[in-house]
Amino acid sequence: MTYIWLLLLSSVACVPEKHKRSPLNQLTRTLLRGYDSGVRPVQNWTSPTVVYIDLILQSILNVDGKTQSLTTCIWYRQIWTDEFLVWDPEEFDGITEISLLSDAIWVPDVIVSEFVDEGKSPPIPYVYVNSSGLVKNYRPIQAVLACKLELYAFPFDKQNCTLTFRSWLHSVQELDLALWRSAEAIASEQTEFMNDGEWELLSIPSHYWQLQQAGEEYAHIQFNVLIRRRPLLYVVGLLIPSIFLMLVDVMSFYLPINSGTRVTFKTSTLLGYTVFRVNLMDELPATAVTTPLIGKHLACCQGCFWLGTSRKSTRVPVFFLHCLFVSEGPITYQDG
Ligand SMILES: *[C@@H]1O[C@H](CO)[C@@H](O)[C@H](O)[C@H]1NC(C)=O
Ligand SMILES: *[C@@H]1O[C@H](CO)[C@@H](O)[C@H](O)[C@H]1NC(C)=O
Ligand SMILES: *[C@@H]1O[C@H](CO)[C@@H](O)[C@H](O)[C@H]1NC(C)=O
Repeated sequence: MTYIWLLLLSSVACVPEKHKRSPLNQLTRTLLRGYDSGVRPVQNWTSPTVVYIDLILQSILNVDGKTQSLTTCIWYRQIWTDEFLVWDPEEFDGITEISLLSDAIWVPDVIVSEFVDEGKSPPIPYVYVNSSGLVKNYRPIQAVLACKLELYAFPFDKQNCTLTFRSWLHSVQELDLALWRSAEAIASEQTEFMNDGEWELLSIPSHYWQLQQAGEEYAHIQFNVLIRRRPLLYVVGLLIPSIFLMLVDVMSFYLPINSGTRVTFKTSTLLGYTVFRVNLMDELPATAVTTPLIGKHLACCQGCFWLGTSRKSTRVPVFFLHCLFVSEGPITYQDG
């Protein structure tokens, strides 16, 4: 019983005084009293708000040839000055920086034109504000980008995907963009990139430009993400087996035409091709317009195979050479 009384007494003693707010609470209330999150935070409406942009590429999750899209993880930062979120640290217990709910203050409407799906980005509800009114909005974005993919040289391909940041509504008189770090520093930033995957980051060059639309200028910052595929996986898994199969097929030309051995041999090769093609269908990145060169090469091999089974197979080596060196365009050979 005495124990319970003691517990009750101690808990009563621990309750803080109700009316004394913490400096952090006081500061937040002072800043947001009368703040209108719908108004661009400038004293003089003629001066534009400059939004500084920074970007770090963290990883490439998927490159899809069929939908012409690239799924990436980026760390995005936008930084601007809010002229209404300014205070004197002396008055508030020396606080120089606080976090505020991003819903409570004005945030710029900067978007990326190429986003087709703003994936599973975790929501970050806060921004950081320092006493001179500098607002830092940092967030990770996992997004699907529309990107024109060049798969012809697969698996030795390089891709160039663009990210264009712009304000959808505000013209350059109201909202201007700039880079937070130097363009060189952003271009060569590799530290956060997960470099063990299929793709290697070459660089991210960027530039600023203005677009005229309906008499107004709009600021754009464009980043070009340049990446290169690491071909080793495909060379070991696709290219070497296919070349091997091709060599076996070529060898079959030296078997006598009407012998039973040749038929057996050809049947085995056909089986090899079929298994290979079934596996390949999953691996090969397909686009609706162009097929990768390696796909053409395999189709050609199979063509050679069918020609090889015909009786007039003396012409075939000539056709085969054409096949190897002239992969596109009409195939002509001398009728012997
Ligand atoms: C706003 O800025 C412009 C140009 O920077 C200046 O001409 C104008 O006097 C300023 N207006 C006020 C009310 O300070
Ligand atoms: C706010 O942050 C900016 C950029 O980091 C810095 O230049 C400025 O001095 C900071 N202001 C204060 C009062 O610390
Ligand atoms: C990447 O694409 C952009 C625009 O499509 C172009 O301006 C740039 O030169 C390209 N970069 C490379 C290295 O191909």
